[in-house]
Formats: sequence, structure tokens, C-alpha cells
Amino acid sequence: MSELTPALLLAVRHLSISFVQEGVVTPAVRDVSFSLEKGETLAVVGESGSGKSVTALALTRLLPVPPARYDGGEILLDGRDLLKLPERELRAVRGGQIGYVFQDPATALNPVFTVRRQMAETLALHRPDVPRHDRAAIDAEIVRWLDLVGIAEPARRLRAYPHELSGGMAQRVMIALALCAQPALLVADEPTTALDATVQRQIIELLKELKARLGMSLLLITHNFGILGGLADRVAVMFRGRLVEEGKTAEVLRAPQHPYTRALIDCVPHLGQKRARLATIDHAALDAV
Ligand SMILES: Nc1ncnc2c1ncn2[C@@H]1O[C@H](COP(=O)(O)OP(=O)(O)OP(=O)(O)O)[C@@H](O)[C@H]1O
Ligand SMILES: [Mg+2]
Repeated sequence: MSELTPALLLAVRHLSISFVQEGVVTPAVRDVSFSLEKGETLAVVGESGSGKSVTALALTRLLPVPPARYDGGEILLDGRDLLKLPERELRAVRGGQIGYVFQDPATALNPVFTVRRQMAETLALHRPDVPRHDRAAIDAEIVRWLDLVGIAEPARRLRAYPHELSGGMAQRVMIALALCAQPALLVADEPTTALDATVQRQIIELLKELKARLGMSLLLITHNFGILGGLADRVAVMFRGRLVEEGKTAEVLRAPQHPYTRALIDCVPHLGQKRARLATIDHAALDAV
């Protein structure tokens, strides 16, 4: 197939997911298709409830079944359909080939374990090249990643517990934790939403830097068009479970095709101003779309 070029890492095709609760079926993701090349960053943008996180979690079948139900589609990672992969093989993909960073580092990090312990576990699971019983080698590898994500005095931070870290620092540790497995794809689901504006910018800058240095692919989920410039190569817009628009970031920002995309862009003050108005999303008008 011509679509399976060597540069293609992930191809999601016609993915549909519902939630079934007490016999009521609610579609959450409807016929979504997108692809991601090696080293490429795709941003998935859309308001709350549009299906961004469900799509992200579905990539490695992290949704609880039930209530989730995979209605159809394919998730091809390097040509293998993850929806058909046995659970045992999937565990190596989760956190191994596909790493995750979530919104709230405070809840994603385990509060009772040190940074060292959490990172050592990930290395033991996903990095056979790091000798399991060589404490010095493990620590050196952890320090290397902490340093790479911009943590000062990384050797000292090894012994820190999550509550001893600021929000920004905890998110850097989360990123180090995901990256030390050397995933081909990092999925960052609203990685800056829980942080204040200055720290948000720092984390976005960090992701830009890491992407350039490590050459990984990045799936960045956000509801904010304002943070994409210079980071996302392409953007996909989700609206009520569907992917309604996809294109190069600059082009989508310059000439959004779907009215919902336009409304989202107008919600970002510094982008919206260029379009000469500040808008709130008019759902009644969008219902007609
Ligand atoms: N575990 C679940 N059980 C039932 N419904 C769910 C579950 N998880 C998500 N949903 C539903 O699926 C839809 C999509 O949710 P999703 O979490 O993907 O939205 P989102 O785009 O990530 O929103 P946000 O920006 O708020 O994170 C929503 O209607 C949500 O209520
Ligand atoms: Mg979400």
C-alpha cells in the first residue's frame, strides 16, 4: 500500500468508540482517521468532551471495556494493528513504543515513590539495555533524562518525592518518565493545562527542544490553539467525536475551513484579534453545520 511509507509511524483509520452504560450507547469517537510520520508533531485540538482523550487512550487500548466499546477501525503502529494485538504484546507498546504525559502530574506520579524508584521501574520494563542490577548505571541513565528535561541538580532530585516538586518540575519529571523508555511516539494530553501561564510556556518550549533533539513523534492534545505555533507541524480539529478539519498548522490558522475551527481560533485572544473579533463558541449556529 502506498500509504505505508517508511516515514509513516501511526495510521488511525476509521476509529469509532462508544460508551455503553445501562444499555444506552453514546458515541465518543466517530470514524476518526489521521496519521503521523516519524518525527512529526500533530496537535489534536477541540473543546471539552470532543473526544480527544478517548482517542489518545484508545491508541494503546487504555479505555476500560466496558463501559468503552471499540466499534471499529484500525490503529496501525509501524504497520501492526494495535486493536488486534494480544494484551501481553500491547503492554510492551504502552509506555514503551507509545509514551503518555497527562494533564496533572500530581496525580500521574505515584506519591509514595521517589523519582528514582518510578524512573527505575520504567527502565526495568522498557530498557533492556540498562542493566537491571547496576545501580550506578540506572542512576546515570535517570540523571541523564532529568537533565535533558531541564531539571537543575538532577542527582539530588533522584531522592525527591512528588510532593517535593513544584508543578512545573513535576511535569518535567513526567516527561522524563515517559521519554526514558525511548518511545517512538509521545502522547501529551493537555500537558500544560494544570500549570500557570509562565510554566506552560516553559513546558511548551521544552517539548519543542526535545522534539528537535530526540526526533520522536508527538501527538499533542490541547483545547488551545494559542500554544501550537512553532511546535505542531499539523493540526487536527475534533468536534463532537469527529475530526472535522486537518492540515498544516500555519494553513489552518490562516484559513480555517470549518466554522468550529474558526470559532476556536477566535477564542484565542492574540490569534483572534487578527481576525478582528473575540468570540464565544456559538453552539446553536454550529448545530446547523
Ligand atoms: N470512562 C468513560 N465513561 C463514559 N463516558 C466517557 C468516559 N470517558 C469519556 N467519556 C465520554 O466521551 C466523550 C469524549 O470525552 P473525552 O474525554 O475524550 O473528551 P476531551 O476532548 O478529552 O475533553 P477535555 O478537553 O475535557 O479533556 C465525552 O462525552 C465523555 O463524557
Ligand atoms: Mg481530555
